[in-house]
Amino acid sequence: MADIITDKDTLTKALEQAGPMPVPGDVLMVTPKHFAVEYVINPHMKGNIGTVDKARARWQWEVVRDKFRHLGLKVHEMEGERGLPDMVFTANQSLPCIHPDGHKHALMSIMHSEQRMEEVPYFEQWYRRHGYEIHYPDADSISDFEGMGDAIWHYKKRFLWGGFGYRSSRRAYEAISDLFHVPVAMLELIHPAFYHLDTCFCVLNEKCVLIYPPAFTRDGLALIHAAFPVVIEAPEKEAQELFACNACCPDGKNVIIQKGCSEVNKALKKNGFAFHEVDTSEYLKSGGSVFCMKLLLW
Ligand code: ARG
Repeated sequence: MADIITDKDTLTKALEQAGPMPVPGDVLMVTPKHFAVEYVINPHMKGNIGTVDKARARWQWEVVRDKFRHLGLKVHEMEGERGLPDMVFTANQSLPCIHPDGHKHALMSIMHSEQRMEEVPYFEQWYRRHGYEIHYPDADSISDFEGMGDAIWHYKKRFLWGGFGYRSSRRAYEAISDLFHVPVAMLELIHPAFYHLDTCFCVLNEKCVLIYPPAFTRDGLALIHAAFPVVIEAPEKEAQELFACNACCPDGKNVIIQKGCSEVNKALKKNGFAFHEVDTSEYLKSGGSVFCMKLLLW
């Protein structure tokens, strides 16, 4: 039976009871050889068709990759495919999961936009080569689901946060909860510029989260506050223009974040985090930054 959480008392209990999940040590990235803005499927892409500087995009991508390496993660690189300019955003095509027995699973996405659908099979192939068991959502009952763009694991717990409203449908999380035997806390997204959960919600560790509050409903904010004693709020400019909440904290201490998020960085520092600034300006043109450019897995 699906374990879908929409109220804070249930959430508190579920979080207490949630089993442990290892911190991911691997990262999957796709090379930006064919990265470009060729169509508009989110508000950030408007006006940016044809404006990506390829050399700069490559260099920025390498800096992000090297940051993950320096933090001790193993980076897997997959070659980007011609005609799939958004394939570089590897957070979106799947949701990986590791079970208590060490068995690795991946649920493949049903991309919301036609333009991105062909990306998914390349990830399926990668997972097969790396010993994952593959699952597909039931396309008859689920219209869309964009992987870790919207489905985000709680730090070190078998507990999932499920964003819905723009790219993933509510119904997807019932299936995920049943498939992976995990509770899912539902967060409805209500601001079109924050179309994926990872644009407005960044789990830093078991106690801290970084969010952009106007992207959520009152009920959603209540769940977030019930789960995390420390909620860092990004100011509008840093959240919307610099994608501050699309940062990534792979180890509970070090935060890789778009450069220039000075207010957020101040708050991170105050709460004991180290921040590592990177420039993802070419990717911001497409509506993505650090978190979208990688997939954390085991
Ligand atoms: N242009 C891409 C899209 O709109 C950007 C995806 C960014 N990914 C993310 N996880 N927020 O689909």
